[in-house]
Amino acid sequence: MSSTWISRGNALLTFVGSVLAAMAIATTCTDYIHRSDPKVACSFVGTEGLQKEFGHDRAHVVLNLTADLRSEFSWNTKQIFVYVNFEFKTRKNARNQMVMWSAILEDKEHAYIHLPALRAQYPYALTDQGFNLRGREFDVTVAWNVMPRVGVLYTRKRTFPGIGRLPEAYLQPTLGRVQLPGSTEMADVPAAAHDMEPHYYTA
Ligand SMILES: *[C@@H]1O[C@H](CO)[C@@H](O)[C@H](O)[C@H]1NC(C)=O
Repeated sequence: MSSTWISRGNALLTFVGSVLAAMAIATTCTDYIHRSDPKVACSFVGTEGLQKEFGHDRAHVVLNLTADLRSEFSWNTKQIFVYVNFEFKTRKNARNQMVMWSAILEDKEHAYIHLPALRAQYPYALTDQGFNLRGREFDVTVAWNVMPRVGVLYTRKRTFPGIGRLPEAYLQPTLGRVQLPGSTEMADVPAAAHDMEPHYYTA
């Protein structure tokens, strides 16, 4: 093979490399142009249980989450990782933060989340490092990482400060039955297993 061919091959590879780089930069730039309008609503449905266990308090909280993240999807979006944090303050810890629920949204069609009875995905998610959960006020933060095909990942979030308060007294857990916020009244909530999984629907 003559050196001419090698240099032509080199030039071609350099050209292809430049085109790919330019495309990657253009892709990243369109992300800045892409406007999203995510809508997130979250409310506290009630407490399904509040237990004193060996060494700590444990809460079973039910939330109602509606999140429309469809507009976060652009042609450069690979997937979205969405999670719900439960947060509270105690005298011992200025900030207690636990992941209650999370999901990977793979496309726009699955980015409209409607979970009227969202519970902690993991049984021990909502625990304190002591016995400080009775009457405790809490915040909920819904956050999502938008993962691009090319470019930089970004995170957006909505915090619902003081969204709820746990009961003043311990409460024996009963699946499908909650103590309503700010009262000792009880009410039924859906206990279906699908509540543990994201229940998607498309509009
Ligand atoms: C959950 O919240 C949505 C949106 O805020 C509301 O339309 C719906 O009625 C609520 N569902 C329940 C079961 O409270």
